[in-house]
Amino acid sequence: MSAAKLPYVRVFNAVSVDGRMDLLDADLELFYGIAMGMKQDAVLSGSGTVLAAIPEVEPEKEGSTYPEAREDDERPWFVVVDSKGAVRSWHMFRAWPYFRGVAALVSRATPQEYLDYLTARGIRYFVAGDGQVDLREGLMALRNELNARQVRVDSGGRLNGALLREGLVDEVHVLIHPMMIGGMSPSSMFLAPDLGSKEGKIALELVHVRRPKPGYVWLRYKVAKPLAEP
Ligand SMILES: NC(=O)c1ccc[n+]([C@@H]2O[C@H](COP(=O)([O-])OP(=O)(O)OC[C@H]3O[C@@H](n4cnc5c(N)ncnc54)[C@H](OP(=O)(O)O)[C@@H]3O)[C@@H](O)[C@H]2O)c1
Repeated sequence: MSAAKLPYVRVFNAVSVDGRMDLLDADLELFYGIAMGMKQDAVLSGSGTVLAAIPEVEPEKEGSTYPEAREDDERPWFVVVDSKGAVRSWHMFRAWPYFRGVAALVSRATPQEYLDYLTARGIRYFVAGDGQVDLREGLMALRNELNARQVRVDSGGRLNGALLREGLVDEVHVLIHPMMIGGMSPSSMFLAPDLGSKEGKIALELVHVRRPKPGYVWLRYKVAKPLAEP
């Protein structure tokens, strides 16, 4: 029996020349034009990213019905990592035409009330880990349950950071915007505990450099030792 494979994971972010993601006022048409051109069976976001995008919404009624995802639907799933049960805006994402359906990655620490909330609205969830979501196990669930072979991470530095530190990322893409922002607070696409030594740095191999629009640069890197193949 062959060993189960993890999905192939691409992280993609819009950044300033000095590597910041806040106050960026990103060119969303350009960013999502590139993003949607990537192979992806699922788009993975963190709860922080979702709450920043849609902070408050009208609560969705129980028993809302949505068409079943069709097997031949080629649009990606939209999946949110949410062990604390913070995201209640699922219906907004379900209404978007970009996704075939939505799902949550939760853990054994996620409040039962939240799992009941998801169940009452027909939202699929997968349990991985005891505290925060075990991301390796969670990605494996996406592969096994949603047949997600390729995952694009659309998130901020914290989820990216956890995935990168755990060696779960295969490609890193950045869309550099022609601006400098500056500041003292951490705002990079890779937020994680400081390394205690030079061990643990992640080597990248440049795959391409594109200039999709005057002033903008799209860099595509492969992580030097990819863990999965598409
Ligand atoms: N410029 C860009 O390209 C771009 C793209 C997307 C987002 N953003 C910006 O990024 C900001 C949000 O970034 P953020 O870093 O605060 O939020 P985030 O990326 O959503 O990260 C928080 C998420 O990571 C999970 N997480 C963190 N550490 C983990 C670990 N060790 N194990 C498992 N899961 C872990 C959290 O899980 P729990 O909830 O379970 O704790 C949560 O779901 C927003 O301002 C957004 O606008 C920018």
